[in-house]
Amino acid sequence: MIFDASGITDAAQLRSLYDFIHPVIRSLGPSGRLVVIGADPDAATGPGEAAAQQALEGFVRSVGKELKRGATAQLLRLAAGGEDAAQSTLRFLLSARSAYVSGQVITIKGAALPAARDWEHPLHEQVAMVTGAARGIGAAIAEVLARDGARVVCLDVPAGDALAVVANRIGGTALQVDITADDGPQRIAEHLRSRHGGVDIVVHNAGVTRDRTLGRMNETEWDTVLGINLVAQQRITDNLVESATLRAGGRIVALSSMAGIAGGAGQANYATSKAGVIGLVRAQAVQFADRPITVNAVAPGFIETEMTAAMPTLVREAARRMNSMSQGGLPVDVAETVAWLAAPTSAGVTGQVVRVCGQHLVGA
Ligand SMILES: NC(=O)c1ccc[n+]([C@@H]2O[C@H](COP(=O)([O-])OP(=O)(O)OC[C@H]3O[C@@H](n4cnc5c(N)ncnc54)[C@H](O)[C@@H]3O)[C@@H](O)[C@H]2O)c1
Repeated sequence: MIFDASGITDAAQLRSLYDFIHPVIRSLGPSGRLVVIGADPDAATGPGEAAAQQALEGFVRSVGKELKRGATAQLLRLAAGGEDAAQSTLRFLLSARSAYVSGQVITIKGAALPAARDWEHPLHEQVAMVTGAARGIGAAIAEVLARDGARVVCLDVPAGDALAVVANRIGGTALQVDITADDGPQRIAEHLRSRHGGVDIVVHNAGVTRDRTLGRMNETEWDTVLGINLVAQQRITDNLVESATLRAGGRIVALSSMAGIAGGAGQANYATSKAGVIGLVRAQAVQFADRPITVNAVAPGFIETEMTAAMPTLVREAARRMNSMSQGGLPVDVAETVAWLAAPTSAGVTGQVVRVCGQHLVGA
């Protein structure tokens, strides 16, 4: 179901939302999709329109929580000129690829789009680098980007042969670097330039937890998490952009976390780093807009990986159930979201934080 509410300019007109959706909402099938199209409330011509357009957010978030059997609800806001740029996002939201994404508000801005659009292989001829690609979410991201046509450089710390296995499986290459090393950013940029002439897509996925309540947390636990999850990311991006290794039309997608939005007991270090990622992405989206490079964050909720397998059983089981889908997400759910944001056709999406959390009950 798609309802275009972008022309609603005062609260009384919100009744049309009820009139259209109320009679049919109970017949929305398993894994059904509801997308409400709205306008940017910040660009409203007056308080009535701003209220009505903001109201759509409450509507979509509530309906998302009511829908059962894998159905999702989203609000797609079209900023000025965003109509043409909305197609890649609509395709994603209406497809099975957004299975674990619900209750999200995504704004599309006007942007120059590629002339040729290959929806089967949207990343054809793109070079992508994924950090932390040896396992878990990073391995799934590498796999999905390769499926979509990208040549993928899989980066991880030098350890074992897991990285080479992933790289070989997807026809990509492996790059062993500790992203926190002093010369890490430089080595990465040099590798991308000498082997591929540059890079188009950068996915900052490598991340760690060192959970402990703040009073018991030692300095190393703080420094390690901030260093890997936030500081290294900024250094790598700065180097890639300043050296023009990340080409015009480039895409940066960073892994944040629901913890960075809602906080988490025992996760002051991790939540600090992941909230920092959100701040970084929003500022860089503005900073790099004229290149034009887009910068977005994906904030996963509970995803079934080795990282979450290490959680205490009760906490893990609660986390699995505390969302509208009543189940954990899979690495591929995050990977599909990254692939959508990484596509040349997603030029209108920047500075956004998209949660892949099955509409987690905490943190909105
Ligand atoms: N699993 C979840 O539920 C979840 C939820 C929210 C956010 N995330 C985020 O998603 C990302 C991936 O999580 P995951 O569950 O797949 O984790 P994981 O622990 O399974 O994998 C992380 C990978 O990053 C690599 N890595 C760690 N430090 C590195 C360094 N210094 N240099 C290079 N590589 C390094 C590790 O070797 C590992 O292969 C992380 O940023 C994490 O914070 C995960």
